[in-house]
Amino acid sequence: QEGDAAAGATVFKKCAICHIAETDQNKIGPSLNGLFGRTAGTHPNFAYSPAMQQAGKDGLVWNETSLRDYLHDPKAKVKGTKMTFIGLKDDTEITNLIAYLKQYSK
Ligand code: HEM
Repeated sequence: QEGDAAAGATVFKKCAICHIAETDQNKIGPSLNGLFGRTAGTHPNFAYSPAMQQAGKDGLVWNETSLRDYLHDPKAKVKGTKMTFIGLKDDTEITNLIAYLKQYSK
């Protein structure tokens, strides 16, 4: 089902203290610009946890499915991640957030 990118912009407020999607700039978390198709733990000049770097080496690539799993329960999807965010329980919120983030990915 198609997400609502405008509604997703509101959901992204939960992420925006740590992440930017519009530009390549890292904050507390890595930039989410160009996220779709990117291997986990590979955005330049960001100090990822060993767990996130290993997840990428093990083949984790960000797409709708992997991102949905991660956002449901970050610490279950990537054990040892240093992202201190509890996750999103509402599937519609995640769908809308994905539509928002896709605007900033090719
Ligand atoms: C990592 C998304 C909320 C801090 C990541 C990654 C994604 C992501 C996709 C992996 C990026 C990559 O591999 O390059 C989101 C979304 C959020 C959110 C969509 C909101 C729903 C937050 C919040 C914080 C945060 C609130 C800070 C309190 C981090 C950190 C990492 C990270 C530190 C690096 C994790 C590691 O190296 O283990 N986030 N995030 N995130 N995020 Fe978030």
